[in-house]
Amino acid sequence: MNNYGINIWGDDNFIIEDGLVKVNIGSKPSLLSIIREVRESGNKGPLTIRFPHITLKQINKLYNSFNSSIEQYNYNGQFKAVFPLKVNQLPNFLLPMLKNTQDLNYGLEAGSKAELLIAMAYTNKNAPITVNGFKDKEMITLGFIARQQGYDITLTLEGINELETIIEVQKELGLEVPNIGLRVRLHSGGIGTWAKSGGINSKFGLSATEILEAFDLLKANNLLDNFKMIHFHIGSAMNSISPLKKALKESGHIYAQLKNMGAIGLNAINIGGGLAIEYSAFEIEREYNLDEFSSDVVFTLQTIAKNKGVGSPDIFIESGRFIAAPNSVLIAPVLELFSGEYEYSNLRLKKDNPDIVKELYALYNDMTSNTAREFMHDSLEHLESILTLFDLGFVDLNDRSNAEVLTNLIIKKAITLLGINNYTELKKFDDKIQEKYLLNFSIFQSLPDFWGIDQKFPIMPITHLDKKPTRSATLWDITCDSDGEIPFNSKEPLYLHDVDLKNEEYFLGFFLTGAYQDILGMKHNLFASAHEINVNFTKDGYQTSDFLKSQKILDILEDLDFNIQDFKNNLFKDLKDNNLKNILDSYLEDNGYLKTIERVNNAR
Ligand SMILES: Cc1ncc(COP(=O)(O)O)c(C=O)c1O
Repeated sequence: MNNYGINIWGDDNFIIEDGLVKVNIGSKPSLLSIIREVRESGNKGPLTIRFPHITLKQINKLYNSFNSSIEQYNYNGQFKAVFPLKVNQLPNFLLPMLKNTQDLNYGLEAGSKAELLIAMAYTNKNAPITVNGFKDKEMITLGFIARQQGYDITLTLEGINELETIIEVQKELGLEVPNIGLRVRLHSGGIGTWAKSGGINSKFGLSATEILEAFDLLKANNLLDNFKMIHFHIGSAMNSISPLKKALKESGHIYAQLKNMGAIGLNAINIGGGLAIEYSAFEIEREYNLDEFSSDVVFTLQTIAKNKGVGSPDIFIESGRFIAAPNSVLIAPVLELFSGEYEYSNLRLKKDNPDIVKELYALYNDMTSNTAREFMHDSLEHLESILTLFDLGFVDLNDRSNAEVLTNLIIKKAITLLGINNYTELKKFDDKIQEKYLLNFSIFQSLPDFWGIDQKFPIMPITHLDKKPTRSATLWDITCDSDGEIPFNSKEPLYLHDVDLKNEEYFLGFFLTGAYQDILGMKHNLFASAHEINVNFTKDGYQTSDFLKSQKILDILEDLDFNIQDFKNNLFKDLKDNNLKNILDSYLEDNGYLKTIERVNNAR
């Protein structure tokens, strides 16, 4: 049975049981039962389900792995971690995570003023804050205020001008200076899609010359005590560990040299993010595991510190994707199967049909398991021919429709007759016989990284998993944009079930969507983000919380700065019928996802 690679990407968070995807904890509820609960309260459309216990599991794994490497090597420094807010700032993700990690001193990383303000409001007491990105005087002043609030905050400098501003703000305010870090521009580059985050031409960090200049400036202004951290980040989703090893060596030597030059306060190296998770449903693409990662970091930094006769630095990490991605699942209802319209009852055979339609009809009726492949092949060719004949005016719309219906019926029958076990037969036809599944969601809103950078996400149906999927699938979203499609890819094929949506529901789950997607999602065609819900496990079962209804159309328009009163005046101006006015009014209170087809399903 197809398990959609759950053994590769699933990390035991989900299991397949009784044909359903279930959450692998406590009472093991199915994803179907969770989405049904939400839909029964009238909320149709796509749903993002978050599992805070999975986020906590990831955080614990990170701490445990680093702490055991530290123990194994008798390492003298400590392990510290912060969550980079850019990865997911939504309160329904963030606040439960912070609540669950109070004992761990798990902090936050901010890359903008808005993020820093979130960090200043919500970081757990005693937990660190790190601040990256370009900073103006205001942002640096925020850093001073956070220090006054009692936070262990480090401003990581992206340029000498930021240090000059720190000095200026200190003179003006006369307050305690926050910790200072230097983001170093390593010559060892990054890897993958975000490789340009590192390397000598990177947008970020100080060159060797600037590091020396910064050191002189720190010394001249008596700030060496405040200078605590060396920072680098070489890119996200590193599937190989070798770029990290190079970066560790380079930054380790910078650290040791600065210490030996008299940087007395310097006591930490921040290795940024980049720790990958396994997104593939086909083969393991991440070439290392977490224990190898932590062991390499600890061992490399210890070796350099020993060789250079300096103390071992504390190790900071700003891992985001690894922490957040696994916790959330997007569930999208399937609205339609493209071939749904090609039913036998839709045939409009004439008294006298063109030969090619007669031939198709015979292929359909006479097909046996021995001839299925050949007949399917023939039918696809016949369909091509009939489309040409139509263009030339030799057959009419009726004949063309009959040919389309018959070809689709032949494909379905062939797939059933072939009883495909390992898809080898089916694969020969994959590109031609895909089924198109129309889903009630927007790729731009819910999977922006698929659209923008071809990021793959594991996809699987959340029901029917005790039945063999027989259709090679292309997925369509409901935006009016041809990019709103996940096309069938014969190298990494997605096979789905041939379902009759008049009688059964069918939902697809998109997994590992918790990092970056929620905040990068965009309102293309004015589709709002999906409904959101958190699922928390208790001893006796589970409880849902923090339900957030998908934004209503009126609010979306308001976000676009429409004057709502003016908009409504225009909309209702020529409408006299009160009933129609009420209908229109109620539509404005809802999100833009499709209802009608889903309502039909529910009625049965
Ligand atoms: C400075 C910094 N730290 C941490 C991260 C998080 O990286 P990841 O999600 O790969 O862990 C990023 C991401 O771009 C970053 O720029």
